[in-house]
Amino acid sequence: MSNRWLLLLVFAAIFALLASADSLASKRTSDPSKPPDGYLKIQVVRPRPDFQGGGRNATVLDLDDGETEAKGGLPEFLERKPRPVLTEEEAVSFSRMLVTILKKEMKNCDIVLAYDDGYRIPAILQELLRLPNPRKLIYVRPSEELPGQAWESSQCRGYVYLLQDLAPLLHLADTRQDAWDFSGKFVVVAPTKAHLEELALSNCGRKTENIAGIAKVRSEERERRASGGVYMNLLYWGAGVARINTWKRGRFTLPLALFPDKLSNLRGVVLEVVTFEWEPSVFYYRNKDGRVLFRYGTDIGVVNALSQVLNFTVAFKEPPKGEYWGREEENGSWSGMMGKLSRNEVDIGVGDLYMTIVRVGILDYTAPYDSELSCFMARTEPPLPRWQALAFPFQGFTWLAIFGGLVLTGPVLYLLARASNCW
Ligand SMILES: *[C@@H]1O[C@H](CO)[C@@H](O)[C@H](O)[C@H]1NC(C)=O
Ligand SMILES: *[C@@H]1O[C@H](CO)[C@@H](O)[C@H](O)[C@H]1NC(C)=O
Ligand SMILES: *[C@@H]1O[C@H](CO)[C@@H](O)[C@H](O)[C@H]1NC(C)=O
Repeated sequence: MSNRWLLLLVFAAIFALLASADSLASKRTSDPSKPPDGYLKIQVVRPRPDFQGGGRNATVLDLDDGETEAKGGLPEFLERKPRPVLTEEEAVSFSRMLVTILKKEMKNCDIVLAYDDGYRIPAILQELLRLPNPRKLIYVRPSEELPGQAWESSQCRGYVYLLQDLAPLLHLADTRQDAWDFSGKFVVVAPTKAHLEELALSNCGRKTENIAGIAKVRSEERERRASGGVYMNLLYWGAGVARINTWKRGRFTLPLALFPDKLSNLRGVVLEVVTFEWEPSVFYYRNKDGRVLFRYGTDIGVVNALSQVLNFTVAFKEPPKGEYWGREEENGSWSGMMGKLSRNEVDIGVGDLYMTIVRVGILDYTAPYDSELSCFMARTEPPLPRWQALAFPFQGFTWLAIFGGLVLTGPVLYLLARASNCW
């Protein structure tokens, strides 16, 4: 909920800026529809719900330093002329590379495109915005926090970051698990491989399946055109990122496959599983000295089955003694199993773990595989006294009928006998 408000706020801010820039522009230039030289025309693309019919409502945003300087008193970062990180020729080549990636690897994605000063390059941005799938455009200022990126889309969600300064994105990935889209597809253009590595190892990055990165490679032959190293995060296959492709002389040297399935075979990685003795979900089998030989029970069975199917190795861990699942401290941190999970010290937690509303905000639950039923117990009526037992087989009315019958039979027979004698 709060993410949505934050995004709304950011959009409001962008439009306010736009409106002020617009009014200034119309005062200064005689023909407001034609921007002066050096202006960068950028479309702000609204998210899908605003679209109706076939076309789209786009707004042209003039991002020009001349404007902001004229206003005066603006923060320093806006007064600086952007210093693009690529030469013109390199930019053309990079834009071709990104268009290829978006067309081939993110064809079915709704895309959020974010860029900072280093990539305020019309050759790149305009080419990308000509594609049908960018839905939002975000200009990342150096001193600004990135807004939360999790948003709703009926199809795959893509995020393309063109950043000279990765700090805002790294900050988001390290601190805002609530605002991170773990199942989105990320393409990050960063200054160096080390930056991409840092992203892949951040709190959120290390649990995100699809992060691809591109870093400029310094070519030895002093080629005019930029060549880019293409990397992907390894998730559980290893630490950080690995180079998988190269963009050179206007094409990829290998077939493009940025987002392979990294989850169905974890290649034997050791995953740490936190659990504790809690029957009947988790039994501990100990030897005479009390040492745990192995664990079993429903929950352990689920973990073992998963480890076989997904090809990982299990290492069991225990929460501190007596803390069990743990509870929330006043300062917001957690103890016990929840603490270990929330601090990313372990990968999986099992042990009769209920779904509760507070835990849902911290954990990513599996589908429920076990259920428990709570019920009330009440004392039953005590058995009847023995002397009543004889009367119990029949109801009162039946007994009445029997006695009535007995009493009536004698006189009736007597009367019948008398009548027959007279006869
Ligand atoms: C664009 O916006 C205007 C006013 O908000 C609206 O009347 C029009 O239908 C929109 N066009 C499209 C194609 O969505
Ligand atoms: C599981 O991972 C190991 C280690 O990478 C690999 O040798 C093995 O072939 C994998 N098993 C399956 C069934 O893929
Ligand atoms: C929060 O409080 C607990 C105990 O009350 C303490 O162990 C823990 O270090 C505290 N955490 C932080 C981040 O202050």
